[in-house]
Parts: sequence; C-alpha cells; structure tokens
Amino acid sequence: MGLFNLLSADRSENLFLPAHGRGKALPKKVRNLLKLRPGIWDLPELFEIGGPLIREGAIAESQKSSAFEVGVDRCWYGVNGATGLLQSSLLALARPGQAILMPRNIHKSCIQACLFGGLIPILFDIPFLTDRGHAAVFDRKWLQRVFQKAKELKEDIAAVVLVNPTYQGYSADIESLIKEIHSHSLPVLVDEAHGAYLISQIRSDLPKSAIFLGADLVVHSLHKSAPGLVQSAVLWSQGDKVDPFKIERSIELLQTSSPSSLLLASCESSIKELIETKGLRKLKYRLEEAELLKDFLINKEVPLLKNSDPLKIILHTSKFGLSGIQVDKRFIKKRIIGELAEPGTLTFCLGLSSHKRLGKRFVRIWNEILTSFGQQKSYFFKRPPFSVVSKPYKPCSHSWGSNFEKVNLHDAIGRISVEMVCPYPPGIPLLIPGEILDEARVDWLIEQKCFWPEQISDFVRVIS
Ligand SMILES: Cc1ncc(COP(=O)(O)O)c(C=O)c1O
Repeated sequence: MGLFNLLSADRSENLFLPAHGRGKALPKKVRNLLKLRPGIWDLPELFEIGGPLIREGAIAESQKSSAFEVGVDRCWYGVNGATGLLQSSLLALARPGQAILMPRNIHKSCIQACLFGGLIPILFDIPFLTDRGHAAVFDRKWLQRVFQKAKELKEDIAAVVLVNPTYQGYSADIESLIKEIHSHSLPVLVDEAHGAYLISQIRSDLPKSAIFLGADLVVHSLHKSAPGLVQSAVLWSQGDKVDPFKIERSIELLQTSSPSSLLLASCESSIKELIETKGLRKLKYRLEEAELLKDFLINKEVPLLKNSDPLKIILHTSKFGLSGIQVDKRFIKKRIIGELAEPGTLTFCLGLSSHKRLGKRFVRIWNEILTSFGQQKSYFFKRPPFSVVSKPYKPCSHSWGSNFEKVNLHDAIGRISVEMVCPYPPGIPLLIPGEILDEARVDWLIEQKCFWPEQISDFVRVIS
C-alpha cells in the first residue's frame, strides 16, 4: 500500500505511539485547527508568531506561560522530538572532551550527541531482570557505587543523565538519585520522554515528574506521553546549574530555521491538557479505564508484568516460551498493533484514547496464540556483560569517523566498533562507536542476534 493510503487507513486497534491514538485524543484546539482550510496553519517563524528562541511573539508568551503554570523557570518547545532536545541539552551541559555519566539503557540520541559534540559517554551498568530481559531501575546505593568506580576513570564528568520512567513504564525513586548526583555538585538531566503526563500530578500513587524533584533539566516527548503531534517535545529547566544561554545556543545549533507552527501549537495544547481541568478529567478517566482493562486481563490469566505506568501493558511472552517479536506478528495479523516488541515481552501503549472493547478481543487472540504455539517452557535471559562503568576504548567521534571494514561478528574479537548496534524500538544501543569487542561482548551480541534476527546483522563495521 502506498504512503497516502497507509496514512488514511484506520482499521486497526492502535496500541502504539503517538499517544493521541490516530487523532482521537488530540486536544480540541488542534482538532479544530486541522478542520480549517488544509495548510492554513502551515507557517514558519512569522513576526507575531516567533519561535522557541525568539524573545517576542506568541510562542515566547506560550513558553513563558507553560513554565509558569508548571512552576519551573524556563521551557523550550521542540519540533524534533525528545531526540532534538536531549541532544541540545547534552551540548549545553558539557564541552568537547568532557564526560557525561549515563545508564546503559540510555536512548541512542544521547550517544549521537556525544558523537557530534566530542563528549565522552561514560556508561554505567544497571540491574537486569533475567525473567523478561529488561533493564530495571536502580537505587541511590547503586549510584554511589557507580560514582566510586567512575572516579577511577579520571575523566572530567560534567553531568549525569537519567532515564525515568523507562520505555516499559518502570520508575525509580528518582528524588534520591537526583540528591546523590547533586551531592557530587553535578547537574542532572532526566530523559522523561515516557513520563510527560506526570506533570499533571493527577494522582499521588503515580510517580512524580523529576521536574518537581529537583532535576535541573527534564525532557518530555509530548507525542509519546501527552497528546502532542509526532515530533512535539519540551525541555524544562530550573535553577542555576545550567546556563540558559548555553541551552539556547545548543537548540539553535540543531533546530530547523523554520520550526513548524503547527507542531509548536501542538506543544502548547498538549501541555495545557495536562494542567487544565478539562484535560485532567479526561486523563483521570483514561487512567481508570486502563487499570480496569489490566485487571480484566490479569483475571483472565493473561501474563502481564507490573510497572508504574497504567497506560502501558507489558505482556510477558517469554513466560510461555515465546518471543515478543513472534507474538507481535500474530497480534498484527489480527489488527492489534503494539508498540514495543522485545525478545521476552510485548508492550502495548494505550495512550490517551479509549480502548473500551479491547479486553475480550485481547484475551481471545492471546489464547489463540498460545494454542497455536503449544505449551512451551519459560526462558530466561543472560545478564549483559557490562562492567560497572566503562568508556569507549577510543573516543567515539574519532571511531565513528575512522576508516572501517565489515567483519563477521565471530571474527570481531579485539576490534573496535565504528557503529552503533541498536535495535529500534527501544533504541537502546548494545554497542557504541569506540567500544572494543571483547569475547564476552561478541558472545552476547551473537546471542542477541538470535533474539532480534531482523534487527541485528551478522556483521559489524570495525576500525580497519
Ligand atoms: C527513553 C527515550 N528517550 C528519548 C526518545 C526519543 O523520543 P522522540 O521520538 O520524541 O525523539 C525515545 C524514543 O523512543 C525514548 O524511548
């Protein structure tokens, strides 16, 4: 089917992102705008409109008002997703040659920022859930050990990045982690791509946004966890640890010179939905509906894993000896489209639209899948072979730009990668440029290749 046909067809149950559910949960103002003469809203940085970096105009006013209402010092809307604003943040936090401390489940965009910004990514290992193959959250004690080990690397660490909540919706005690980082006099950026709706503070039993817990910078993907159009995002900043001038010049470096006014309007309206009464009422209702659905599925013995995000359903496929990637294909055939297929799980994002009649259909399809594959034994995943902290063996930007050759993974031991190996989604790199392929890493990558047959190649490009 051609692109235009695909864009207009809507015969499936959409359990993937963006969270607006193919328009169903878009804020009313955006829906009304889109009903006008097609294209009337397609404007660049005109005088009265302005843009995220222009002092005057409607966008400057809107950013000021969003920051004020959320209770932070500043915010900038973004038109290149959380990706663009995370990258701008990293460039604002560190100079070329300085290091950034990041967990192993960091999104690839942050590694890319290190590549073009000449920064050193110091990656730290995190706990791993062997029953499902997911990175788990960690606590302050874990982070203290990371700091101890990171000191031994003798790099000039400029900042720390945390990812919370994770793609699957696990959430840590982020406040204690931020306190630990601040005790080392370092600024902290939280990649909250999957937690924008937490700024609503709608329920005390849900995690709090890091922006209310002392983070210096927080990035939200407004299309992933708020009702924004694809590419909409926001960067919040507070306190005096990060100079707004550095943030703005970094945004300017990466942002198009013609940011779409439609996307910027979508940033404004999706934030408003999370703080104004009408939007909050809708959100509360969606959360309740999602919890009822989860309870229904659990009662029908569908194996769901616990997380902190009611809007994400994690189906534990490896419990029944099945790969989430296999199971995803079966669901797609039945026109239920999930978000994140992984070797041990399949995560569905309910988003902000209603899925009232989904429960029975979901159970029926899951039971059909189980019957067709037959009863199989659950399987477990090996821990990744990462040390507590590590930095690339050679600077990653240098490695990325080096002459390379393509070798079979089996022949890669002792070689240095020039590429990122990174199944997408979730976009978490398994190998980054400059890392050395020791025997343990090669064995693990070969094993990962079996789990992600369509995403990981037999070959890897290494410095020649
Ligand atoms: C944890 C995390 N951070 C950042 C991003 C990038 O978000 P965006 O698609 O808005 O650029 C993603 C995308 O999957 C993500 O999972």
